[in-house]
Amino acid sequence: MTRRQQTERPAACAALFALLALAGCGDSAGPEGTDTDADTAEQELRTLLGIPDHFELPSIPDYNPPTAEKIALGRRLFYDRQLSANGEQSCADCHHQELGFVDGEKTPTGSTGTVLVRNSMALANVAYNSSYTWASDNLLTLEDQIKIPLLSDSPIELGVTDGVRDEVFARFEQDPEYAQLFQDAFPEDPGGVTTNKVVFALASFCRSLISGDSPYDHHVAGDKTALTEQQRLGLSLFNGERFECFHCHGGVLLTKAYHDANRLEPQLAFFNNGLYNVDGEGSYPPYDQGLYELTLNPDHRGLFRPPSLRNIALTAPYMHDGSIATLREVVEHYAAGGRLLEDGPFAGDGRVSPLKSGLIRGFEATDEEIDAVVAFLEAMTDETFTTNPAYADPPD
Ligand code: HEC
Ligand code: HEC
Repeated sequence: MTRRQQTERPAACAALFALLALAGCGDSAGPEGTDTDADTAEQELRTLLGIPDHFELPSIPDYNPPTAEKIALGRRLFYDRQLSANGEQSCADCHHQELGFVDGEKTPTGSTGTVLVRNSMALANVAYNSSYTWASDNLLTLEDQIKIPLLSDSPIELGVTDGVRDEVFARFEQDPEYAQLFQDAFPEDPGGVTTNKVVFALASFCRSLISGDSPYDHHVAGDKTALTEQQRLGLSLFNGERFECFHCHGGVLLTKAYHDANRLEPQLAFFNNGLYNVDGEGSYPPYDQGLYELTLNPDHRGLFRPPSLRNIALTAPYMHDGSIATLREVVEHYAAGGRLLEDGPFAGDGRVSPLKSGLIRGFEATDEEIDAVVAFLEAMTDETFTTNPAYADPPD
């Protein structure tokens, strides 16, 4: 088990005890619980969610402690097209396991045919995100985020809007197998299907999507042969002051924007990496200016969350709008210090955007060095994750 620093221990323990008290497991773990109780509780949570020893515990809202029953129900719902108003789409239609839970499209299409403006996001280790979606500072839990694809009417994804919700939930209430799954997941509330039950179960399933068995993880865990020589060079460039990648995508989670149980507050992080500069003042295409869409602060144009780079070789195309096709082009983008678009509606020189992060400076790099960073990014592919039967469409 990972030994936490002495100073970090109290917050983590308090969070864990709260969680287990609510979960109703770990009987001996009360407010006066001992270190041994905490260790047992931590081990139970690690086993339930499949969290490897080299990861901290994620921060989990105490109103939705994970259980095996909620995860099982959430998994069924995730793959079930009955969870969309017209029965045409499930969460899994935009989040495919074999692609690290993206869909391979530039931007996906919702159940009624609306094309979305943003690229689908990978779901590996989403339990640890400090904020959700490409650019929101107000979606701090999976529970809040999942309501959007489920319930929103603009744009429509699954389209379970107010007018059709009872009808959609009745499909599950009338199915004896689902009735039992809901009963097992929420034994304290034997009533019908509610938005909260659906969302809590889906969030619990998403929290169980842990990727920690890539060659990079084996390297972190001390296996000196896990990475090739080229990948080790790529890792040192990634973590060096010339390429600067680690400032925004560092640590074992490969993002600065994380929240684990040792942090009382989520580490929010948003950056402009110079993809656009349509007016010379740093603007992005008018239909999606990143964090600015929420804050209306002009300095927030082009601010997006640095995503985790886990399974990144599987999740092309890249960036919030899928506008970069390959990993090599991504690294070349950073080497150039931004993107020059010579023509088209969004022409402009991102390299001189006044709003891009000071860390996107551009740098000299040989072809071999760029290849090495790409090879390192490929070491993030976790086949245990993409083939884990526990994450797949459950058999009937
Ligand atoms: C039509 C395609 C589509 C469907 C259906 C869909 N998603 Fe997504 N998902 C996306 C896109 C696109 C984003 C990024 C949204 C944004 O940034 O505004 C996303 C983001 C997410 C995120 C945030 C990940 C992160 O790192 O912040 C989670 C979690 C998620 N989806 C889970 C789900 C679940 C659960 C369902 C089913 C209830 C679902 N999605 C249905 C396309 C979809
Ligand atoms: C200043 C912070 C910052 C630095 C430095 C940085 N990135 Fe990023 N990275 C981001 C942000 C923010 C995004 C998302 C931008 C967007 O979609 O508009 C991103 C996106 C990416 C993506 C696409 C992710 C996806 O899921 O589509 C890859 C790959 C990537 N970065 C790799 C790198 C590499 C390699 C380096 C070093 C050469 C690097 N980044 C340096 C902030 C940074």
